[in-house]
Amino acid sequence: MNFGASTFTLLVLLVASIAQTLSIDCSIFGRNMCLCQHLETELLQCPPAEPKIIISISDKQHITVQCQDEVTPNLDLDLFPDLNITQCQQFKLEYCYPENGFDGVRKKFGVQNLTVLELESMAPKENSASFSLTKDFLGNLSSLESLRISYSPISFAPDFLANFPNLLALVIYKSEISQLHRHFDYVPKLTLLDLASNQISALPDGVFRSLTNLSRLQLFSNNISSISRRTFEGLENVKLLELSLNHISQVAEDSFADLPLLVNLSLRGNRIQTIESNIFAHNSLLENVRLGSNPGMIFQDRVFENLTKLLTVELNSNRFQTLPEGTFTNCRALKDINLSSNLLSSLPEGVFCNLRYLKRLNLSFNTLRLLPDTLFASLECLEELELSHNQLSAISRQLFKPLHALKQLHLSHNQLSIIDKNVFSSLQSQFTVLDLSFNNWNNSYDVPVNIFQVTPLAEQLLLSHNQLRWIPDLPSALKLRRLDLSYNNIDAGLCPP
Ligand SMILES: *[C@@H]1O[C@H](CO)[C@@H](O)[C@H](O)[C@H]1NC(C)=O
Ligand SMILES: *[C@@H]1O[C@H](CO)[C@@H](O)[C@H](O)[C@H]1NC(C)=O
Ligand SMILES: *[C@@H]1O[C@H](CO)[C@@H](O)[C@H](O)[C@H]1NC(C)=O
Ligand SMILES: *[C@@H]1O[C@H](CO)[C@@H](O)[C@H](O)[C@H]1NC(C)=O
Ligand SMILES: *[C@@H]1O[C@H](CO)[C@@H](O)[C@H](O)[C@H]1NC(C)=O
Ligand SMILES: *[C@@H]1O[C@H](CO)[C@@H](O)[C@H](O)[C@H]1NC(C)=O
Ligand SMILES: *[C@@H]1O[C@H](CO)[C@@H](O)[C@H](O)[C@H]1NC(C)=O
Ligand SMILES: *[C@@H]1O[C@H](CO)[C@@H](O)[C@H](O)[C@H]1NC(C)=O
Ligand SMILES: *[C@@H]1O[C@H](CO)[C@@H](O)[C@H](O)[C@H]1NC(C)=O
Ligand SMILES: *[C@@H]1O[C@H](CO)[C@@H](O)[C@H](O)[C@H]1NC(C)=O
Repeated sequence: MNFGASTFTLLVLLVASIAQTLSIDCSIFGRNMCLCQHLETELLQCPPAEPKIIISISDKQHITVQCQDEVTPNLDLDLFPDLNITQCQQFKLEYCYPENGFDGVRKKFGVQNLTVLELESMAPKENSASFSLTKDFLGNLSSLESLRISYSPISFAPDFLANFPNLLALVIYKSEISQLHRHFDYVPKLTLLDLASNQISALPDGVFRSLTNLSRLQLFSNNISSISRRTFEGLENVKLLELSLNHISQVAEDSFADLPLLVNLSLRGNRIQTIESNIFAHNSLLENVRLGSNPGMIFQDRVFENLTKLLTVELNSNRFQTLPEGTFTNCRALKDINLSSNLLSSLPEGVFCNLRYLKRLNLSFNTLRLLPDTLFASLECLEELELSHNQLSAISRQLFKPLHALKQLHLSHNQLSIIDKNVFSSLQSQFTVLDLSFNNWNNSYDVPVNIFQVTPLAEQLLLSHNQLRWIPDLPSALKLRRLDLSYNNIDAGLCPP
């Protein structure tokens, strides 16, 4: 065959232009070391037939190295040639254990200025707990800004962060870190520290002291049992503190005094015994507080007093039998309160007083029998009121009067059977859902006020599981989109009176 000179030139140019856009030169795999493919990302499978390592490189900047053996294998660097991907910024190692440390891997790839490093499921084949991650293993990565280690059941040497003076984010997830030393003194620029789902059982005094720029501290799902005045020393910029699902029983009353900028705090799912009155005295910027699922917690009066930025409060599932009247005093901005799943049988009259901007109030799953007439007197912005799963048998005609913005009223699973004809009369046109299912409504001839004569204009009217006997003639049918009358005693032959 005789190629013309111009065709040949074109071919050469074409090959050259493809090669320019690639970061790896596939010709270096001449010995069939790896299968080299250019898909959306560049892909190397080494060796080609039964790959032990798969390397993908996208935008010349993100490298992922995946080892394929079932048990975490040692990363055999000899399986592929030296690569020169100097621009690489992000490196992820999955299911690989680099026996001679990450520094060797870095050199093999020619990587110089890594900013993001992820190590997922990294552990030596045997005795992973006795393997200690050290600064030498990780190597010199002075440009590193983000380090994420997950699913790696290893231990962490006190100096493992020593080479990362510029680190901004550290995430250690499901990796069995159990003891915190003064690790964080090496990384003073940190803004995110996420240690969720590990086995940390104690937070030594001052352990975070160097982290003056930290904004988020995430300690979800560990085994922490107490926090004290000095635990959070130095964290003057922390806005988010997440401590849910630990075993915290003791919270000293000044535990949060060093966190003046705290906005979000979660202590959900602990065993807190007492929350004292002045616990948030120094946290005037608090917006969202989750204290639910601490069964048996003693909750003193005025805990949230004067937190004028507070937006949401979760106090569900605490076995509260009562709530101190001053709990929300002067929480002017409050929008959401969740008190569901407690043992509340009554509520003090003034407990929601002056919560003018409250939008959602959840009182479901309690044992409320009777509510004070003026309980909701200030709630002119309330949109959703949950009173289902209680023991209400009567509702005063004043109770819902002030609720001019109400959209949803949930009263299912109570013992309601008699109702004053004005109970719902002040509900306005924005009202959409009235749930009265699982109560004792009947529309016998002997009922003084028929439930259908009093229901407001609503889009959904839920009346299943009562003892209604006929399908009513509904005056407000125009707006109605859903009417549930299932599980009643409706008899086709029976006509309304
Ligand atoms: C690696 O690539 C850079 C440019 O990206 C080049 O300057 C350097 O010579 C290369 N080094 C090797 C060993 O190929
Ligand atoms: C790495 O960072 C140093 C110092 O910031 C810089 O001089 C060098 O050019 C960078 N190298 C690459 C490959 O970006
Ligand atoms: C670490 O690397 C940086 C630049 O990449 C260099 O300036 C510094 O001397 C190195 N430190 C050590 C201990 O090797
Ligand atoms: C904290 O952040 C500020 C502003 O970004 C910066 O000037 C300061 O150097 C940082 N402090 C540390 C210890 O990195
Ligand atoms: C959690 O901490 C308690 C002591 O507070 C200890 O008895 C228990 O063994 C710890 N559990 C785990 C899984 O570390
Ligand atoms: C606080 O929580 C709210 C609601 O979950 C969220 O929208 C907000 O971004 C959080 N703020 C901080 C500083 O974490
Ligand atoms: C709340 O503010 C009022 C009026 O400023 C003050 O008298 C009261 O002591 C404050 N309560 C708390 C717990 O700081
Ligand atoms: C109240 O808490 C329960 C968990 O008990 C949750 O399912 C529900 O969504 C919460 N409601 C609000 C309004 O926060
Ligand atoms: C109120 O809480 C109950 C139980 O925790 C939950 O099922 C329900 O969805 C909540 N209601 C609203 C409006 O969030
Ligand atoms: C219907 O309800 C009223 C009010 O509770 C009650 O007095 C009456 O006995 C009920 N009638 C039937 C047939 O259940």
